[in-house]
Amino acid sequence: MSERKPIVGGNWKMNLHAADAEALIAGLADAGLPDSVETVVCPAFPYLAAAAKQLEGTGIMLGAQDVYYEANGAFTGEVSCSMLKDIGVQWVLTGHSERRHVIGETDVMVNAKTRAALDAGLSVILCIGEKIEQREANQTDAINAGQLAYGLAGVSAEDLSRVVIAYEPVWAIGTGKTASTEDAEKAHAAIRGVLANLYDQSAADAMRIQYGGSCKPGNAAELFSQPDIDGGLIGGAALKVADFKAIIEAAAGVATA
Ligand code: 13P
Repeated sequence: MSERKPIVGGNWKMNLHAADAEALIAGLADAGLPDSVETVVCPAFPYLAAAAKQLEGTGIMLGAQDVYYEANGAFTGEVSCSMLKDIGVQWVLTGHSERRHVIGETDVMVNAKTRAALDAGLSVILCIGEKIEQREANQTDAINAGQLAYGLAGVSAEDLSRVVIAYEPVWAIGTGKTASTEDAEKAHAAIRGVLANLYDQSAADAMRIQYGGSCKPGNAAELFSQPDIDGGLIGGAALKVADFKAIIEAAAGVATA
């Protein structure tokens, strides 16, 4: 097993109003989560500021689900990196498949957001992954390689240390279908190979690559036991304390092996 510290993120998506978000954070704060795993929660925008205060001293980090790449100005509805920093956000998701395929974000935007967040001192979880028709056409590795190259264009080796990759096959997200352990590991190993080409082997070896897509307590340990899977980005199962805790503990189980 690698020396990479596992990282588990909870992407709450457009779920949980104030009281539920507060209760979930309180539950996680009291859950005695292992500190051998980095834990990040990503509530919806309206609740980030309250979450930042509630998370103080818990060791759980705070992420936003999106950000805009311009510093300020006439961009109605958008939120800047410095605004997120201002309220205590540490992480940002970029390139999530729902933003790529539902909202219509392009690789150019994903790259601009990734770079802006890193320039602002935020850490980034850059999400990549293939659609079902791409998998069936044996394009999984090519799609991942393309999204990595676009997403990381212009990102320095130094800034790369604040980037985590989340491999989330689009067909596995919210569907109950999980990539087989073998398929997930194969994709992760290929992603690490691309990172070695884009940067170098030691940078690639240091990168954490999360798996996402119907990851739950029942499959997390097996997925995380793979040599190139360094934790997970969790949707549905991150909304319940017991499930999210079980997934984090699964990551801890392989952390020091
Ligand atoms: P699910 O865990 O609900 O499949 O969602 C995964 C995801 O999209 C996390 O970003």
